[in-house]
Amino acid sequence: MAAIRNSTFDEPFYQAADKFFTDNHKVGLTFDDITLATLYSEILPRDTQLATTLAGHLALNIPVISSDMDTVTESRMAIALALNGGLGLIHYNMPERQQLSEVSRVKNHVHGLIQDPIKIAPDQLIGDVLALIEQRKFGFSTFPVVDGDGKLVGLLSGHVVKPRYAAKKVAEALTPRSQVHCILCKELGKDPIARADKFFTEHIGIHKLLVVDEADHLHGLITMSDVERITLERKAQFKPARDAHFRLICGAAVSATRNAFGELDRDRILTHAGGLIERGVDVLAVSTAHGFSKGVGDTVRVLRDAFPKLPIMAGNVTSAAGVEYLADCGANCIKVGQGPGSICTTRMVAGVGIPQMTALYVCSRAAAKKKISLLADGGITKSGDIVKALTLAQAVICGGIFAGCTEAPGEVIEISGKMYKHYRGMGSMAAMKAGSAARYGHDKNPTQKVAPEGVEALKESCGSVDRVLAQLIGGIQSGMGYLGAANLAQLRENARFIRVSPAGQREAAPHDVVELKTGH
Ligand code: XMP
Repeated sequence: MAAIRNSTFDEPFYQAADKFFTDNHKVGLTFDDITLATLYSEILPRDTQLATTLAGHLALNIPVISSDMDTVTESRMAIALALNGGLGLIHYNMPERQQLSEVSRVKNHVHGLIQDPIKIAPDQLIGDVLALIEQRKFGFSTFPVVDGDGKLVGLLSGHVVKPRYAAKKVAEALTPRSQVHCILCKELGKDPIARADKFFTEHIGIHKLLVVDEADHLHGLITMSDVERITLERKAQFKPARDAHFRLICGAAVSATRNAFGELDRDRILTHAGGLIERGVDVLAVSTAHGFSKGVGDTVRVLRDAFPKLPIMAGNVTSAAGVEYLADCGANCIKVGQGPGSICTTRMVAGVGIPQMTALYVCSRAAAKKKISLLADGGITKSGDIVKALTLAQAVICGGIFAGCTEAPGEVIEISGKMYKHYRGMGSMAAMKAGSAARYGHDKNPTQKVAPEGVEALKESCGSVDRVLAQLIGGIQSGMGYLGAANLAQLRENARFIRVSPAGQREAAPHDVVELKTGH
């Protein structure tokens, strides 16, 4: 049932986005400047749906993305986000080769039926296999062994892939074909996972099932741990975000790389993007501080021309004109946010940037016209901020919220008995020296003076991404329940805003009490 609207007494106070933001057009507003009004609701928070579509086939089961920052998202973070239904954007402050293997790790993380498993030949050495595992960063060590025609010869079990056997041939160490458990392609039926599940129950102690055709050519591999995980997933409320081949989804940053003459390095950008696409990346992010610029627009155009169906994120912008420009260049999702981030100093250093809710509103009107999605990037410190951002955007991008998690890159450091992790802006001097300078329009080894636009900081260690996301999702669902919204489209439609005075902001946080425990 549709939510019952405000009475006419409510209307002058609690306004829909168009009226509210145009009435407040002379002042830039951010999350804490506003609050959302409750509405009649028949929706229980736990029943709300958080699915969101960002572009074509790119859909998430929760509207949360981790930032492409070098202290936030590498493969561990991206895996954790995707397993929870979100998306991680692998940063590009690392050599290209390393970024490719980070993407591979995410894409190889959990397999249902692995249609094209990594195969080895009988005359290879175990040492070659160990080198391959190291080079490609595989998280597994059991491999099917096939001959030159792709026919199954046996299975090399992880138990024998050890340095002590490095000089032995695979042929000497494999489990022979006659002892390997196989199933014919045609016997898999419509639900290969259910079929494999039955097989593993019937064959005690067997953990791998190979798929072959009548001529014994290898066509796939199913592992028991994957089947168990997938069976569990089918019952979860927020399912992992997967691609059409049942692999976790993953995004990666690319930059508007220039050559020695200062021109856009088209070939390098295309080689980089091509490598990522070959590894299975689901979306590329052209992440810069100033997205409404020729370099970013041209980079998006180069990518769009070469890869017509590829989802592309681009940014950052804070104006409708910026959204229209990047959409016209071919971007599907536009990142909004200049200076709201917890480690950003752009507004202080450059004197530019727009408070995030006003920026999101202005951009959302252009995004609706262009039929592209918006990502609210930066400044989110609590679940209530996400609810507010989602009244205008399709998803949020968070850095600081995840930087203290176990899955973020970097070691935990102890200071006076408390545990922390490093978190730094990609425009901080240290991050720019490590490679991110192009994002801020500077050279990596600057010959001129460069003003950093970000700080190096610490975040208190905050446990796993699962734990952090459970809190955030609970908060988003609660907000949707208050607004009578069963899904994110209804949240956008139902949202009514009012400004908050400084006294109102104080009232919104715990006050006049001695806090024993924080809300986390
Ligand atoms: P939060 O608030 O989630 O913000 O920590 C993360 C977002 O901040 C942006 N970012 C920067 N902005 N200087 C900036 O002005 C920087 O050094 C910087 N590094 C990251 C980025 O959009 C990120 O997702």
